[in-house]
Amino acid sequence: MYADNQIRRNTIRDITKLKGVRPVVSLTAYTAPMAANLDAHVDFLLVGDSLAMVLYGMESTIGVSLDTMIEHTKAVMRGSQKALVVLDMPFGSFEESKEQAFRNASRVLRETGCAAVKLEGGAAMAETIKFLVGRNIPVMAHIGLRPQAVHVMGGYKTQGKNQEERSQMIEDGFAVQEAGAFSVVLEGVTEPLAAEITQKLDIMTIGIGASADCDGQILVVEDMLGYFPKNAKFVKRYAEVGQTIDQAVRQYADDVKARKFPSPEHTYGLKPKS
Ligand code: KIV
Repeated sequence: MYADNQIRRNTIRDITKLKGVRPVVSLTAYTAPMAANLDAHVDFLLVGDSLAMVLYGMESTIGVSLDTMIEHTKAVMRGSQKALVVLDMPFGSFEESKEQAFRNASRVLRETGCAAVKLEGGAAMAETIKFLVGRNIPVMAHIGLRPQAVHVMGGYKTQGKNQEERSQMIEDGFAVQEAGAFSVVLEGVTEPLAAEITQKLDIMTIGIGASADCDGQILVVEDMLGYFPKNAKFVKRYAEVGQTIDQAVRQYADDVKARKFPSPEHTYGLKPKS
Protein backbone atom coordinates (compact mmCIF):
# COMPACT_ATOMS: atom_id res chain seq x y z
CA MET A 1 0.00 0.00 0.00
CA TYR A 2 2.81 2.49 0.82
CA ALA A 3 5.54 2.00 -1.79
CA ASP A 4 9.03 2.71 -0.42
CA ASN A 5 10.23 4.50 -3.51
CA GLN A 6 7.41 7.05 -3.48
CA ILE A 7 8.20 10.65 -2.55
CA ARG A 8 6.31 11.43 0.65
CA ARG A 9 3.96 14.41 0.55
CA ASN A 10 4.39 16.99 3.30
CA THR A 11 1.87 16.71 6.08
CA ILE A 12 0.27 19.48 8.12
CA ARG A 13 2.58 18.45 10.96
CA ASP A 14 5.66 18.88 8.72
CA ILE A 15 4.53 22.46 8.10
CA THR A 16 3.43 23.43 11.60
CA LYS A 17 6.61 22.20 13.24
CA LEU A 18 8.58 24.75 11.23
CA LYS A 19 7.29 27.62 13.42
CA GLY A 20 10.35 29.22 14.98
CA VAL A 21 12.66 26.94 12.96
CA ARG A 22 12.63 28.45 9.47
CA PRO A 23 10.18 30.39 7.30
CA VAL A 24 7.64 28.31 5.40
CA VAL A 25 7.83 28.65 1.61
CA SER A 26 4.64 28.62 -0.41
CA LEU A 27 3.22 29.74 -3.73
CA THR A 28 -0.05 29.45 -5.55
CA ALA A 29 -0.47 26.88 -8.32
CA TYR A 30 -3.48 26.25 -10.51
CA THR A 31 -2.25 23.76 -13.11
CA ALA A 32 -0.33 20.47 -13.26
CA PRO A 33 2.75 21.76 -15.15
CA MET A 34 3.15 24.76 -12.84
CA ALA A 35 2.74 22.51 -9.78
CA ALA A 36 5.47 20.23 -11.18
CA ASN A 37 7.81 23.21 -11.58
CA LEU A 38 7.22 24.45 -8.03
CA ASP A 39 6.99 21.16 -6.15
CA ALA A 40 10.66 20.74 -5.22
CA HIS A 41 10.96 24.26 -3.85
CA VAL A 42 7.88 24.87 -1.70
CA ASP A 43 6.49 23.43 1.52
CA PHE A 44 2.91 23.87 0.38
CA LEU A 45 0.97 24.89 -2.71
CA LEU A 46 -2.23 26.88 -2.47
CA VAL A 47 -4.83 26.53 -5.19
CA GLY A 48 -5.95 30.08 -4.57
CA ASP A 49 -9.24 31.54 -5.70
CA SER A 50 -7.00 34.24 -7.20
CA LEU A 51 -7.17 31.95 -10.24
CA ALA A 52 -10.47 33.72 -11.00
CA MET A 53 -8.46 36.83 -11.88
CA VAL A 54 -5.13 35.32 -12.93
CA LEU A 55 -6.39 32.50 -15.18
CA TYR A 56 -9.95 33.48 -16.02
CA GLY A 57 -9.57 37.26 -16.28
CA MET A 58 -12.39 37.98 -13.81
CA GLU A 59 -12.49 41.33 -12.02
CA SER A 60 -12.41 39.82 -8.53
CA THR A 61 -12.25 36.38 -6.90
CA ILE A 62 -15.97 36.36 -6.22
CA GLY A 63 -17.13 34.65 -9.43
CA VAL A 64 -15.23 31.37 -9.19
CA SER A 65 -17.16 28.19 -8.39
CA LEU A 66 -16.29 25.26 -6.14
CA ASP A 67 -16.37 22.92 -9.16
CA THR A 68 -13.69 25.00 -10.87
CA MET A 69 -11.54 25.05 -7.72
CA ILE A 70 -11.86 21.28 -7.43
CA GLU A 71 -10.77 20.65 -11.04
CA HIS A 72 -7.70 22.88 -10.64
CA THR A 73 -6.81 21.21 -7.33
CA LYS A 74 -6.97 17.78 -8.97
CA ALA A 75 -4.55 19.08 -11.61
CA VAL A 76 -2.18 20.46 -8.95
CA MET A 77 -2.29 17.15 -7.07
CA ARG A 78 -1.40 15.29 -10.29
CA GLY A 79 1.48 17.67 -11.00
CA SER A 80 3.03 17.58 -7.52
CA GLN A 81 4.41 14.84 -5.32
CA LYS A 82 5.98 16.51 -2.31
CA ALA A 83 4.14 19.73 -1.48
CA LEU A 84 1.13 19.80 0.81
CA VAL A 85 -1.79 21.08 -1.27
CA VAL A 86 -4.43 23.45 0.13
CA LEU A 87 -7.65 24.45 -1.66
CA ASP A 88 -9.04 27.93 -1.16
CA MET A 89 -12.78 27.69 -0.45
CA PRO A 90 -14.45 30.08 -2.91
CA PHE A 91 -17.00 32.77 -2.05
CA GLY A 92 -20.40 31.29 -1.23
CA SER A 93 -19.15 27.77 -0.52
CA PHE A 94 -18.78 27.97 3.29
CA GLU A 95 -20.36 31.11 4.77
CA GLU A 96 -24.02 30.04 4.90
CA SER A 97 -23.64 27.53 7.74
CA LYS A 98 -21.10 25.20 9.28
CA GLU A 99 -22.99 22.31 7.72
CA GLN A 100 -22.66 23.83 4.24
CA ALA A 101 -18.95 24.35 4.92
CA PHE A 102 -18.54 20.71 5.99
CA ARG A 103 -20.49 19.40 3.00
CA ASN A 104 -18.31 21.35 0.57
CA ALA A 105 -14.97 20.93 2.35
CA SER A 106 -15.47 17.18 2.75
CA ARG A 107 -16.24 16.98 -0.98
CA VAL A 108 -12.95 18.83 -1.61
CA LEU A 109 -10.88 16.36 0.41
CA ARG A 110 -12.70 13.35 -1.07
CA GLU A 111 -12.55 14.37 -4.71
CA THR A 112 -9.13 16.03 -4.89
CA GLY A 113 -7.00 14.19 -2.35
CA CYS A 114 -5.66 17.49 -1.02
CA ALA A 115 -5.09 17.75 2.73
CA ALA A 116 -6.57 21.06 3.81
CA VAL A 117 -8.82 23.96 2.94
CA LYS A 118 -8.28 27.67 3.40
CA LEU A 119 -11.14 29.98 4.18
CA GLU A 120 -11.37 33.72 4.52
CA GLY A 121 -12.61 35.13 7.83
CA GLY A 122 -11.62 35.57 11.45
CA ALA A 123 -13.83 35.57 14.54
CA ALA A 124 -16.95 35.43 12.36
CA MET A 125 -15.80 32.08 10.93
CA ALA A 126 -14.51 30.58 14.20
CA GLU A 127 -17.54 28.38 14.77
CA THR A 128 -17.31 27.03 11.23
CA ILE A 129 -13.57 26.36 11.58
CA LYS A 130 -14.18 24.49 14.84
CA PHE A 131 -16.89 22.41 13.20
CA LEU A 132 -14.62 21.45 10.29
CA VAL A 133 -11.54 20.74 12.41
CA GLY A 134 -13.66 18.65 14.80
CA ARG A 135 -14.69 16.57 11.78
CA ASN A 136 -11.16 15.97 10.46
CA ILE A 137 -10.85 18.81 7.98
CA PRO A 138 -7.65 20.82 8.51
CA VAL A 139 -8.23 24.54 8.07
CA MET A 140 -5.94 27.41 7.19
CA ALA A 141 -7.65 30.70 8.06
CA HIS A 142 -7.18 34.02 6.21
CA ILE A 143 -7.48 37.41 7.92
CA GLY A 144 -6.58 41.02 7.18
CA LEU A 145 -7.28 41.99 3.60
CA ARG A 146 -9.88 39.49 2.47
CA PRO A 147 -10.37 39.68 -1.31
CA GLN A 148 -13.78 37.94 -1.10
CA ALA A 149 -14.94 40.85 1.11
CA VAL A 150 -13.77 43.51 -1.36
CA HIS A 151 -17.23 45.08 -1.58
CA VAL A 152 -17.68 45.50 2.18
CA MET A 153 -14.06 46.53 2.73
CA GLY A 154 -14.35 49.21 0.03
CA GLY A 155 -11.39 48.00 -2.04
CA TYR A 156 -8.10 46.17 -1.58
CA LYS A 157 -6.70 48.13 1.36
CA THR A 158 -3.81 47.42 3.73
CA GLN A 159 -5.13 46.49 7.15
CA GLY A 160 -3.86 47.56 10.57
CA LYS A 161 -3.57 51.28 10.02
CA ASN A 162 -5.81 52.25 12.94
CA GLN A 163 -6.41 50.91 16.44
CA GLU A 164 -9.84 49.48 15.62
CA GLU A 165 -8.42 47.38 12.74
CA ARG A 166 -5.46 46.30 14.87
CA SER A 167 -7.66 45.12 17.75
CA GLN A 168 -10.01 43.33 15.35
CA MET A 169 -7.14 41.48 13.70
CA ILE A 170 -5.62 40.36 16.97
CA GLU A 171 -9.04 39.14 18.05
CA ASP A 172 -9.44 37.35 14.69
CA GLY A 173 -6.05 35.68 15.06
CA PHE A 174 -6.85 34.33 18.51
CA ALA A 175 -10.35 33.27 17.42
CA VAL A 176 -9.13 31.15 14.50
CA GLN A 177 -6.32 29.66 16.60
CA GLU A 178 -8.75 28.68 19.37
CA ALA A 179 -11.12 27.24 16.75
CA GLY A 180 -8.32 24.88 15.66
CA ALA A 181 -6.93 26.40 12.45
CA PHE A 182 -3.40 25.04 11.88
CA SER A 183 -2.23 28.24 10.25
CA VAL A 184 -3.44 31.68 9.25
CA VAL A 185 -2.76 33.78 6.17
CA LEU A 186 -2.18 37.46 6.96
CA GLU A 187 -2.85 39.49 3.82
CA GLY A 188 -2.06 43.17 3.33
CA VAL A 189 -1.07 43.86 6.93
CA THR A 190 1.33 46.51 8.26
CA GLU A 191 4.64 45.17 9.57
CA PRO A 192 4.21 46.00 13.28
CA LEU A 193 0.82 44.30 13.40
CA ALA A 194 2.01 41.22 11.47
CA ALA A 195 4.96 40.96 13.87
CA GLU A 196 2.70 41.28 16.93
CA ILE A 197 0.23 38.65 15.69
CA THR A 198 3.03 36.25 14.71
CA GLN A 199 4.66 36.61 18.08
CA LYS A 200 1.39 36.23 20.03
CA LEU A 201 -0.01 33.21 18.17
CA ASP A 202 1.22 29.63 18.49
CA ILE A 203 -0.01 28.78 15.00
CA MET A 204 1.91 29.60 11.85
CA THR A 205 1.30 32.96 10.16
CA ILE A 206 1.74 33.00 6.38
CA GLY A 207 2.20 36.49 5.00
CA ILE A 208 1.31 38.04 1.67
CA GLY A 209 2.05 41.75 1.76
CA ALA A 210 2.52 41.34 5.50
CA SER A 211 6.31 41.76 5.95
CA ALA A 212 9.19 39.38 6.68
CA ASP A 213 8.03 39.00 10.28
CA CYS A 214 5.50 36.27 9.42
CA ASP A 215 6.33 32.57 9.92
CA GLY A 216 6.12 31.97 6.19
CA GLN A 217 5.48 33.66 2.88
CA ILE A 218 3.14 33.13 -0.05
CA LEU A 219 2.87 34.90 -3.40
CA VAL A 220 0.78 34.38 -6.49
CA VAL A 221 3.32 32.61 -8.70
CA GLU A 222 2.38 34.51 -11.88
CA ASP A 223 3.06 37.79 -10.02
CA MET A 224 6.54 36.82 -8.87
CA LEU A 225 7.39 35.40 -12.30
CA GLY A 226 6.50 38.71 -13.96
CA TYR A 227 3.58 37.60 -16.12
CA PHE A 228 1.80 40.93 -15.78
CA PRO A 229 3.04 44.44 -16.57
CA LYS A 230 2.34 45.77 -13.06
CA ASN A 231 2.22 44.37 -9.51
CA ALA A 232 1.38 45.51 -6.00
CA LYS A 233 4.25 46.96 -3.90
CA PHE A 234 4.68 43.72 -1.91
CA VAL A 235 5.47 41.59 -4.99
CA LYS A 236 9.10 41.01 -5.91
CA ARG A 237 9.49 40.02 -9.57
CA TYR A 238 11.98 37.14 -9.82
CA ALA A 239 11.63 36.83 -13.61
CA GLU A 240 10.10 38.60 -16.61
CA VAL A 241 8.11 35.71 -18.06
CA GLY A 242 5.60 38.05 -19.72
CA GLN A 243 8.40 39.60 -21.79
CA THR A 244 9.91 36.19 -22.56
CA ILE A 245 6.54 34.96 -23.88
CA ASP A 246 6.09 38.10 -25.95
CA GLN A 247 9.54 37.74 -27.56
CA ALA A 248 9.07 34.03 -28.25
CA VAL A 249 5.63 34.47 -29.81
CA ARG A 250 6.78 37.44 -31.89
CA GLN A 251 9.67 35.29 -33.24
CA TYR A 252 7.30 32.41 -34.00
CA ALA A 253 4.89 34.72 -35.87
CA ASP A 254 7.78 36.20 -37.88
CA ASP A 255 9.10 32.70 -38.71
CA VAL A 256 5.69 31.44 -39.85
CA LYS A 257 5.12 34.48 -42.05
CA ALA A 258 8.61 34.12 -43.59
CA ARG A 259 8.17 30.31 -44.07
CA LYS A 260 11.20 29.77 -41.81
CA PHE A 261 9.11 27.55 -39.54
CA PRO A 262 8.75 24.60 -39.83
CA SER A 263 12.31 24.06 -41.09
CA PRO A 264 13.58 20.62 -42.34
CA GLU A 265 14.53 19.58 -38.79
CA HIS A 266 10.88 19.96 -37.73
CA THR A 267 9.43 18.21 -40.80
CA TYR A 268 8.48 14.53 -41.40
CA GLY A 269 9.12 12.77 -44.76
CA LEU A 270 10.80 15.62 -46.62
CA LYS A 271 9.84 16.12 -50.29
CA PRO A 272 12.64 14.87 -52.58
CA LYS A 273 14.72 17.79 -53.85
CA SER A 274 13.85 18.52 -57.51
O1 KIV B 1 -6.21 33.22 -3.64
C1 KIV B 1 -5.03 33.39 -3.31
O2 KIV B 1 -4.13 33.29 -4.15
C2 KIV B 1 -4.75 33.70 -1.92
C3 KIV B 1 -3.41 34.14 -1.46
C4 KIV B 1 -3.15 33.93 -0.03
C5 KIV B 1 -2.28 34.24 -2.28
O3 KIV B 1 -5.63 33.59 -1.13
